[in-house]
Amino acid sequence: MLGLDALQLALNESETVSNTLTSSLAEVLKRRLSGESVARIIGHREFYGLDFGLNAATLEPRPDTELLIDLALDVLPEGGRLLDMGTGTGCIPIALLVNRPDAGAVATDLNMEALAQAGDNARRHGVERRLTLLLGDWFGALGSEERFDLILSNPPYIESAVVETLAAEVKDFDPLLALDGGPDGLAPYRVIAAGAGDWLRDGGRVMVEIGFDQGEAVSALFAAAGFEAISVHKDLAGLDRVVSAHHLKGAKAS
Ligand SMILES: C[S@@+](CC[C@H](N)C(=O)[O-])C[C@H]1O[C@@H](n2cnc3c(N)ncnc32)[C@H](O)[C@@H]1O
Repeated sequence: MLGLDALQLALNESETVSNTLTSSLAEVLKRRLSGESVARIIGHREFYGLDFGLNAATLEPRPDTELLIDLALDVLPEGGRLLDMGTGTGCIPIALLVNRPDAGAVATDLNMEALAQAGDNARRHGVERRLTLLLGDWFGALGSEERFDLILSNPPYIESAVVETLAAEVKDFDPLLALDGGPDGLAPYRVIAAGAGDWLRDGGRVMVEIGFDQGEAVSALFAAAGFEAISVHKDLAGLDRVVSAHHLKGAKAS
């Protein structure tokens, strides 16, 4: 707000702050006290070492999701194509494209404002020519016959009844569309497991972020859809965080 970095702040600590600035600061403090996060107030948040702009339609990127990037970087082939569904700020495909200049991506979301923010973030990080943004409901957003090496998603996965019980910082400020995964929190995974096989190349993989207690249920959905080599990966806190599944030749999603 003052436009000063830490050093300038220390050097100018005896300067008087104007009344206008004092009242803006009071306004910001009021927002913070109501539960709004610092990232929402300043309008951006760091993810995978990159800065992402936020708007009211986007989830704040979380450090938990960085595991998905690490795993994806390990398996994405040279010149690979990836699909990210429910992209929000675009943090997943943009972090991958910045780290893999050979790769290309498609990202979808049901919310137009979220896609606009993802577009801004893609330009901010110089990957806009390698990222196609599409509006629509999960696979319904895709129009072409393209097939992907990797399908990623951090879908909404909170049970509907639990959303209201979340901390104010989340339930009052993160968009409901980014949180609510239906009555059992698994609705988006059912759609992704049923459809992913039709959009993957043989040998391709799907990787989804999950809630800490959803590993078994989400693995079972991918197994039922014909995926193989299904594994659950833990985050740095030791909690189940990502399910990955392999689409082997001839595998058919049911
Ligand atoms: C948990 S947020 C994840 C956002 C971002 N990928 C991240 O990791 O920070 C889920 C995203 O899915 C989007 N979404 C919800 N329902 C959708 C649907 N039916 N089709 C496509 N996207 C959807 C939301 O708008 C939101 O951006």
